[in-house]
Amino acid sequence: MKLHNAEKTCWNCPAAMLKGNVDFRACGQSVESIRDKIESEGLLIECSRRSELGLFEPSITFEECLEWRPTEYGYLLNEMRVMILGVDGYLGWTLALKLGSLGCRVSGVDCFIRRNAVDEKGSHSVVPIAPIEERIGAAREVLGIDIEFREIDILDREKLGAFMREVEPEAVVHYGEIPSAPYSMVDCDHAIKVQHNNVIGTLGVLFLMKEIVPEASLIKLGTMGEYGAPLTGRPIFEGMFPADAVLLWNDREWSLGGELTPRDPVSFYHVSKVQDTFNVYEACKYWWLRSYDVMQGVIYGVHTEQVASDPRLRTRFDVDEWFGTVVNRFVAQAAMGMPLTIYGEGQQIRGYIALEDAMECMVRLISSPPEPGQYDVVNQVSGLHKVRELAETVAKVASEKFDLKVELQRVENPRVEAANHPFEAVSTKLPNELGFQPDTSLETEIERMLGLLARPEIMERLRMVEHVVRPRTWWSGDKREVETLEIYMPGTKETDGFTPTLVTGKEEATTIRPKTNADVSTPLVAVEVEKE
Ligand SMILES: NC(=O)c1ccc[n+]([C@@H]2O[C@H](COP(=O)([O-])OP(=O)(O)OC[C@H]3O[C@@H](n4cnc5c(N)ncnc54)[C@H](O)[C@@H]3O)[C@@H](O)[C@H]2O)c1
Repeated sequence: MKLHNAEKTCWNCPAAMLKGNVDFRACGQSVESIRDKIESEGLLIECSRRSELGLFEPSITFEECLEWRPTEYGYLLNEMRVMILGVDGYLGWTLALKLGSLGCRVSGVDCFIRRNAVDEKGSHSVVPIAPIEERIGAAREVLGIDIEFREIDILDREKLGAFMREVEPEAVVHYGEIPSAPYSMVDCDHAIKVQHNNVIGTLGVLFLMKEIVPEASLIKLGTMGEYGAPLTGRPIFEGMFPADAVLLWNDREWSLGGELTPRDPVSFYHVSKVQDTFNVYEACKYWWLRSYDVMQGVIYGVHTEQVASDPRLRTRFDVDEWFGTVVNRFVAQAAMGMPLTIYGEGQQIRGYIALEDAMECMVRLISSPPEPGQYDVVNQVSGLHKVRELAETVAKVASEKFDLKVELQRVENPRVEAANHPFEAVSTKLPNELGFQPDTSLETEIERMLGLLARPEIMERLRMVEHVVRPRTWWSGDKREVETLEIYMPGTKETDGFTPTLVTGKEEATTIRPKTNADVSTPLVAVEVEKE
């Protein structure tokens, strides 16, 4: 069977030097018109990796090219140079080890803003993480991986630019943002800090890439939270409306095909991601940069082969109300004997993906760059779940595999979000175009997390941060601990409300959608969710 990117050509390859041969970056023409022109008039390029080819047509496929070698995730450039912004973080560290073990030359920057913000909360990563120099030393010793690291704040464009010039990355993975909705809702200072760090940081990265590595692909992390949860039940497409989408209004019809879909962010953090989306989109349009904007679901878990290979290689794991994500927090609560805190009714539906699966998606995206000028969006989720059902699943695994007695509690919801809503999300590109199949079930990863947290030294660290687990950051600006509305045993509540639908293109959508907005119950003050 052919690998998913076998047919991609020099057009997709960051080693293809188009710039000196055709000056199209500022011309504002579409990729199609440029391609037509090239096909009729011919275009010759050079390869930065294979100078012996001289000038040639950009038509060599990855399968044919000696610089691309087959891996289990598709063809990958030999010793591909990948720069990770935010390499000390939960995902950045995990990806660095995975890419390193696949033979990539990994570089990374971080300014430790995440470590500092967790300190500010009075918390710590429950799974201990060493200072970055020690982590890098351990990666070298255990896995034979060299990570080229610089302590740089992305906002410092001079330093970041110098590092980019030195490394000349062929792909830039941008994880380097403050990822917490509650943190952005603490007060005005925190909201400004998040938006400044994220939006201005990303804008600077775009300008640097234009100047220094215009052929590199940018894999930019957005979030499914950018879309919100459309109360009409309108499907959440992958960033743009499909070609056959039509707007009917006032007895007239317009095609919406290819337009960005509406965004409805649910916190000032999520607003920063939406602003990034527009900036990345524009940069691709103006300067022919290429980017995947990854609308990532909430991540859960602790496991990849590399992070599990040595305690010093583990990635961070946070459970506080600012930085812990919902499944990770539920697992921690189950391990501690704290009833799992479900915000409101727990009917909120969101997209989720295990750490291990998310890393696989990222490798596939890195190995399959978009064409110059192409802004592409993928919804990176492997399952849709209601918060209340997640709590039930955690309780079930905890009781069956670890003999833990787990209670559930409904607490006041400090957020402003729909209490009960339909949810149909589309995620067709990763499974159909990039060969991704989720491997890790929710139950498997919950079991792994519980196993890790059960270790005495980790349980001790968990106990030390018990006091920062319960939410006290309200979207209203209040600072008071939420009250418990009800405590109940798992399995004692009926499953009701809307059924989520994940459209992967391999099955038909089956959910019956409400006919009108009025059919949807939408109290605007409601319930928990992702803590990303
Ligand atoms: N974890 C999730 O569930 C999730 C879900 C959807 C999207 N995301 C997105 O994925 C990305 C990574 O998330 P994560 O969970 O690994 O977060 P993280 O906080 O663990 O990692 C981000 C890293 O970037 C660094 N950073 C932030 N701003 C920086 C700056 N100005 N200069 C240098 N370094 C900077 C931080 O110190 C941190 O180490 C974020 O953009 C986040 O919004 C995460």
